[in-house]
Amino acid sequence: MRFTIAIDGPAAAGKGTISRAVAERFGFAHLDTGALYRAVGVKAQATGRDPVDTARSLSPADLERDDLRTLAAGQAASKVAALPEVRAALVDFQREFARREGGAVLDGRDIGTVICPGAEVKLFVTASPEVRAHRRWLEVGGDEVQVLAEVRERDARDMNRADAPLRPAEDALVIDTSDLSIEEAVAAACAAVAARLA
Ligand code: DC
Repeated sequence: MRFTIAIDGPAAAGKGTISRAVAERFGFAHLDTGALYRAVGVKAQATGRDPVDTARSLSPADLERDDLRTLAAGQAASKVAALPEVRAALVDFQREFARREGGAVLDGRDIGTVICPGAEVKLFVTASPEVRAHRRWLEVGGDEVQVLAEVRERDARDMNRADAPLRPAEDALVIDTSDLSIEEAVAAACAAVAARLA
């Protein structure tokens, strides 16, 4: 069976948690596409190489680095993600993953709009910038005001870039997690998938 679930939304809205839970519940494979951009950003910075070449030669080992979850990696990712040639270099890998036998969940910014416009289920997971900054701050610590500023900066860059900007697909179900527990958000996502599978 081929069945694609596209889960998009801004940083720290709960996409990752929801995607992992949905994948586990339905036995689907999961791809965190943000990790691809993080790996390109971090590796290009570390090696001084061109981000486009870095994206074209990305290897599975690059996705295993343990510095991919930092705020700096998120900023580096958001910058290289604005380059159309970087995005183009990562399209085939994502589309192949999406059509794999047994079902796939992909989370990112442009899965429902650009990578998999024909996805069987599209979710747009969002929350207020303040709630998202607070969640990110609980993970990374430091100065919460600074974390909020970085969340807003990254939102602006992701939403205003010319190529594949962050926005909900027209047929996406929007889940605002600002006032939801993790369990409630996961339940809403699973209900949408179950309805489409039925
Ligand atoms: O989801 P994340 O925080 O790991 O994503 C890091 C950055 O990568 C994000 O700011 C924008 C970019 N990104 C993207 O442009 N398209 C995707 N499908 C996933 C991430």
